[in-house]
Amino acid sequence: HDARLTIDPAFRVAPVRRRTFGTFVEHLGRCVYTGVYEPDHPGADEDGFRRDVLDLTRELGVSTVRYPGGNFVSGYRWEDGIGPKESRPRRLDLAWHSTETNEVGVDEFVRWCRKAGVEPMMAVNLGTRGIAEALDLLEYCNHPSGTALSDLRAANGAKEPHDIRMWCLGNEMDGPWQTGHKTAREYGRLAAETARAMRMVDPGLELVACGSSGSTMPTFGAWESTVLEETYDVVDFISCHAYYEEKDGDLGSFLACSTDMEYFIRSVVATADSVGARLKSRKRIDISFDEWNVWYLSRFQAAEPPRDWPVAPPLLEDHYHLADAVAFGGLLITLLRNSDRVTAASLAQLVNVIAPIMTEPGGRAWRQTTFHPFAQASRHAAGDVLRVEPVSPLYETAQYGEVPLLHAVATHADEGVTIFAVNRATDGPLSLEIDARALGGARITSATTLTGPDVYARNTADDPDRVAPRPNENVEQDPMRVLLPPVSWNVIHLS
Ligand code: AHR
Repeated sequence: HDARLTIDPAFRVAPVRRRTFGTFVEHLGRCVYTGVYEPDHPGADEDGFRRDVLDLTRELGVSTVRYPGGNFVSGYRWEDGIGPKESRPRRLDLAWHSTETNEVGVDEFVRWCRKAGVEPMMAVNLGTRGIAEALDLLEYCNHPSGTALSDLRAANGAKEPHDIRMWCLGNEMDGPWQTGHKTAREYGRLAAETARAMRMVDPGLELVACGSSGSTMPTFGAWESTVLEETYDVVDFISCHAYYEEKDGDLGSFLACSTDMEYFIRSVVATADSVGARLKSRKRIDISFDEWNVWYLSRFQAAEPPRDWPVAPPLLEDHYHLADAVAFGGLLITLLRNSDRVTAASLAQLVNVIAPIMTEPGGRAWRQTTFHPFAQASRHAAGDVLRVEPVSPLYETAQYGEVPLLHAVATHADEGVTIFAVNRATDGPLSLEIDARALGGARITSATTLTGPDVYARNTADDPDRVAPRPNENVEQDPMRVLLPPVSWNVIHLS
């Protein structure tokens, strides 16, 4: 197959948003306990955080971390997680049928964020709770001192305010599985009044209203419209959540799953803009794509839920293979391509739970296949996002009709241009020709590829580097050409 793209710094979409490279830590399964926090681990630091996970988080290039859920937040009492650990209550977590010990709460989380060099992003409970509790949490976290809650934070060891800028107004409130699930109108009213009150404390907060939990939700579109009618003036973002998996051995459709993400983003942008037009508002609402990933949700749904109420059971521990990483890379490309409106995103999640980082309790930590596209994109996407005008052969998919074999985006900074490209073809390589005349004399300075003979190859604790990016030697300079192997994720530098 032959494909072509054009690099021209004039085809600017938007700046690369650092917040595109956010992730998510939920009190779910082993994400917090034996993931980020394990005081008995031989490599734990003085706060009980796993050093190996902190190192991998930095290497992954994470910008923000959303916390504490997810479905968990809709039954969460944040006060349970502060103060002396020995007096913190154990509670039932209805979302995941687990017992929450509350050994980690907001103060530990923010401490961990500072060590990891990431920005915390907080969600408030609008399922079982409301405006008062959201205000209390905000005051506890962000008010400098001199009030009961801010002084309590200082007494608990955090003298400086946590200064959390970005707040999610609930989680997936459109989903019937959510504790305290609401209609769009009910949620929109509550979100608007919560946002208005939070802005009385600090008008500069960045607030996210819940959008849809997926583009196939029965209320998709209508939900965004109603919620934004209520919240337009008081929020900055509407959220999107999307998970994809290979179903019934249909690899071709799975590798094209970013087609749905693209449709999702375009539909939400159109809906938000139409509400803005009806309200005669000049304000623009952006997207926080604050849950996205490959997730074998159908396997999770088919499994028996835990019978008792275990503490930190292994849940949602998907082991990703090469094809998952390539589909995942396609999703990242789509997020970047839409950087004019998707200005924040969170990979769900960070460790153990549908995650790029895996750990053994008490043991090793390793990089899943999906770690690599994320880390490379976070490290190399810089400056401006460019449209690349790809010309590519199409292939037929059962789910999305005809889809291009090549999916790509580029970024441009002073150091040069980086192209991120996926070859979705399962039957052969794609010869990619790069037209960079506008750059005047640029050459390919490096190219790496994530691929392999077995699209279902995985990384494990014993074989952690089986699937990892390797140099691509199939490069020609004049004209510039790179051979992209079948089912591959590629990073190409020009300068
Ligand atoms: O990320 C796993 C779960 O997926 C989250 O808790 C929820 O928000 C979504 O349904």
